[in-house]
Amino acid sequence: MRVLPNGPRVPAVLQVLRWLRQPIPMLEACRRRYGDTFTLRFPGFDPLVLMSDPTAIKEIFTGDPDELRAGEANVVLAPFVGSDSLLLADGARHRRKRRLLMPPFHGERMQLYGELMRAITDRVIDAWPVGRAFPIHTETQGITLDVILRAVFGLDEGAQMDALRARLVEGASVVTEHPMLMIKWLQRDLGPLTSWRRVETLRAEVDALLFTEFARRRREKRSDRTDILSLLMAARDEEGRAMSDTELRDEMITLLLAGHETTATTLAWVIQHVLEHPAVHARLRTELLERDAGVGEPVGASDLPYLDATIKETQRLMPIIPLVGRRLHTAMPVGGYELPAGVVAAPCAYLTHRRPDLWEEPDVFHPERFLGKRPSPYEFFPFGGGARACLGAAFASFEMKIVLARILTRVEMRAVPGYQVRVVRRGITFAPSEGMPVVIEQRAA
Ligand code: HEM
Repeated sequence: MRVLPNGPRVPAVLQVLRWLRQPIPMLEACRRRYGDTFTLRFPGFDPLVLMSDPTAIKEIFTGDPDELRAGEANVVLAPFVGSDSLLLADGARHRRKRRLLMPPFHGERMQLYGELMRAITDRVIDAWPVGRAFPIHTETQGITLDVILRAVFGLDEGAQMDALRARLVEGASVVTEHPMLMIKWLQRDLGPLTSWRRVETLRAEVDALLFTEFARRRREKRSDRTDILSLLMAARDEEGRAMSDTELRDEMITLLLAGHETTATTLAWVIQHVLEHPAVHARLRTELLERDAGVGEPVGASDLPYLDATIKETQRLMPIIPLVGRRLHTAMPVGGYELPAGVVAAPCAYLTHRRPDLWEEPDVFHPERFLGKRPSPYEFFPFGGGARACLGAAFASFEMKIVLARILTRVEMRAVPGYQVRVVRRGITFAPSEGMPVVIEQRAA
């Protein structure tokens, strides 16, 4: 008989409540009590076996994706992303979709979007008040949403973009303010004033706007467009098939949901850590001023090494998606355990990134540890790993560098005195509390 690794014995309902309210203390308490591997149980979900030993993580990330299924583990996202989403696909269907979606996200392509990212960031910075506190997370959300709408959807400023933006912002806030909506049996229409009804209405409105945009693009027949939607509309699979409208819609919503809040929240965490560490802040400014970065030059993966290390160190300490899942198709050994079919093996970035045997002083923020080093993908994996690793990792890393380069060179910023950061859950991501309030002391043109 196969026995799942140990884990909390309290009822599944209490486990999910703790997971929603105090995820980090829960993870830490479980590690103290049960070690590298433990099982969590949430009502309506398959048992979740969390792992934080690099050998086990390697087995999972390099294992057969047909046996270790990420799509099945992501099923909770179905009502948000749509059933045709890449995130929910497994096997041959996933490989086909990934081949269609991957090319626009390749490193060199990213350079095309640099100018746009910089202009969007500058416009947002121009509107910041000087001398008055405001939440920086709301601002980074504005930046990353506009980057997606312009670079990924290819929308031009105007009524269409405003209409879509308004609905997406509202939809995201309903879901992030009501994390319980992630639970399958609460995803029900319980009447006109309920949050789920609002999500469904907004989704119908977003669909209508997107389908109108697809039709307009087809009529327009421009070949000079470089946005990701246009590239996807032109893409054909091996059999020469184009994507259908519903598939396009599901993939665009997937890119939006996967790419917007994740990048915005990571940016907010980088700013939070930098403001808490004046020496890091000073070193970053020196690096940026020396390079005079952000003045239209491309900011590639190897540019600005200290900024790169600071982003990575933030992602190490605060991987905003703390774990990823692979549902076992058949019973198999994973990480030294004989696991039954149907359980979800879950590499936990949060716990792996804080192992004292892998990281010296694991709880200390120390960007220098990444300088000139390439950590193993089984020890450091803020973007997940293997065949299912984040499709937008290069895009996000490039965007974060541009946005931070502009912010750190253009404004003198400090944290609000007395602010004590806590980790709060927003949908599936972990974010800084109160939107991470900051004060701008000075702004350069
Ligand atoms: C700092 C920002 C980001 C973080 C931390 C992040 C993190 C992640 C993680 C942890 C996964 C799951 C990987 C796994 O299961 O192994 C993922 C998947 C994915 N991400 Fe990201 N992501 C970010 C930005 C983006 C952006 C900008 C886009 C696109 C515009 C994007 C698109 C995707 C897609 C499409 C997937 C699913 C890939 C698949 O299932 O094959 N992400 N991301």
